[in-house]
Parts: sequence; structure tokens; C-alpha cells
Amino acid sequence: MSEPDSRARPRIWLNCAISIDGRLAFARGVRARLSGPQDLVRVHRLRAESDAIVVGSGTVILDDPSLTVHWEEIGRLVGRPPTRIVLDSSGSAPAGARVFDGSSPTLVATVKSNNRTYPPHVERLIAGTDRVELPELWTLLYERGMRRILVEGGARVIASVVASRRFDRLTVYVAPVLIGQGTSPPMVAGPAAEGFEHLARLRLLGVERLDDGYVASYEPRDP
Ligand SMILES: NC(=O)c1ccc[n+]([C@@H]2O[C@H](COP(=O)([O-])OP(=O)(O)OC[C@H]3O[C@@H](n4cnc5c(N)ncnc54)[C@H](OP(=O)(O)O)[C@@H]3O)[C@@H](O)[C@H]2O)c1
Repeated sequence: MSEPDSRARPRIWLNCAISIDGRLAFARGVRARLSGPQDLVRVHRLRAESDAIVVGSGTVILDDPSLTVHWEEIGRLVGRPPTRIVLDSSGSAPAGARVFDGSSPTLVATVKSNNRTYPPHVERLIAGTDRVELPELWTLLYERGMRRILVEGGARVIASVVASRRFDRLTVYVAPVLIGQGTSPPMVAGPAAEGFEHLARLRLLGVERLDDGYVASYEPRDP
């Protein structure tokens, strides 16, 4: 696990929806749509209050999300859309993906060696040499005036953020379903903690019933 650093960075908020057994999606990563209507309102409010929404290329490939705010569903006038950010070191996010449709500002965080082209309205930000380095990316986004970043997944991106220890809030919607292990992605697809001293330790801030499930909010405990 990395040591926390003192560089200025935006507030990082992790959010996801899981099954009771901690799975993010169906077998082979097929999108599960675990949130009910009340949780979707919560997620769209979170998006509306964020400067950017981050996902990994895996989520773009498997889910093809549009990562927009449904202003009408949260009862607000249309506001400034959060920037959509795709972590794509090797350039695997499909050019025809919804995030690249030009309907909201979109940025690809990548590395120098990725020389593929993206649609013209998509901005490229170099953050790292072999793989997108999150601390470097957070610093670059902070320098652009971004102060609130919502990280929506998937499993490998959540693992990187958790391993870096550089996040401020985690909200998890737990849907009342069991998916099973097999090929369904876990919430955190990274190396398992070797012992208590390596655990990512969190403090529970609150639990709220939404739809037939609940959302739990956490903040990291000091290491
Ligand atoms: N239930 C939910 O709330 C929710 C939300 C989102 C996604 N999901 C599910 O999550 C699954 C996708 O998860 P996933 O693990 O396959 O993909 P992912 O985490 O979305 O993306 C992983 C990819 O992001 C790129 N990446 C770049 N920099 C990274 C970094 N610093 N750390 C981690 N990844 C980085 C890597 O590809 P490169 O090497 O090419 O850069 C990596 O393979 C899907 O099944 C989707 O349905 C569920």
C-alpha cells in the first residue's frame, strides 16, 4: 500500500453498487444495474455535485455508460455537466463508446506511449509512463480547478484508488441480491490484504435504506 502524500488533490469520492456478496456485475462482467430508482437519484445528485466522473476502460468496454446527469430526475435545472474521465493507458476504450459522443466534456487519462487517436472533442491528458498514475492525475485535475471527483469503478479502478489510500469518501449501495463468485467481478479487484495491518480501514458514517437495499457511507481511518 502507498503512503499518503501531501500534494494538493481534489476530494475523491468512490461510489458503487454491489450485491450482498460483494459483486459489481453478473458473470463475465455483464452490467447488473443493481441500483433501484431511489439509489439512482442519489447517484445523479452525486454526479451533479462533482466536477468529474472517473471510470476505467473496462467499464467503458463492458457497460458503455454515458456518465451524464439526469437533471430532471433530481428535480434541478440543467447545470454544468461534470467532465467524463476515462482511464485508458493502452487505448482500448472503443471510439464509438457513449462517453465519446461529445454531449459532455470528456477527457481520456492515458500515457505517452498510447498513440491511438480519439474523437476530436475528446481531450487527452498524460498522467504516468506505463499506466495512468492516479496521484499524478489527481494533481493535474486539481491544477485545472477540479475539486470534487467521483470515481464510479469498475473493480480494478476501485482497487487502485483503495490501494493508494487517497480517497475521502466511499458510498456503497448494497442491493438485496446474491450473485455468486465465478466470473462476476468483486467490488475490489486487487491484491488481497496479507493481514490486519494491511487492511484498508474505514469508519462508518451512516446507513440509509433505499429501495429494497441500503447505502452505507464511509471515510478512511488514518493508517
Ligand atoms: N456496480 C457498479 O457500481 C459498477 C460501476 C462501474 C463498473 N462496474 C462493473 O465493473 C466491471 C468493470 O471493471 P474492470 O475491473 O473490468 O474495469 P475498470 O476498473 O473499469 O477498468 C480497468 C482498466 O482501467 C485502466 N486503468 C488505467 N489506469 C488505471 C489504474 N491506475 N488503475 C486501474 N485501472 C486503470 C486499465 O486498462 P489500461 O491498462 O488499458 O489502462 C484497466 O484494465 C464491469 O463488469 C462493470 O459492469 C460496476
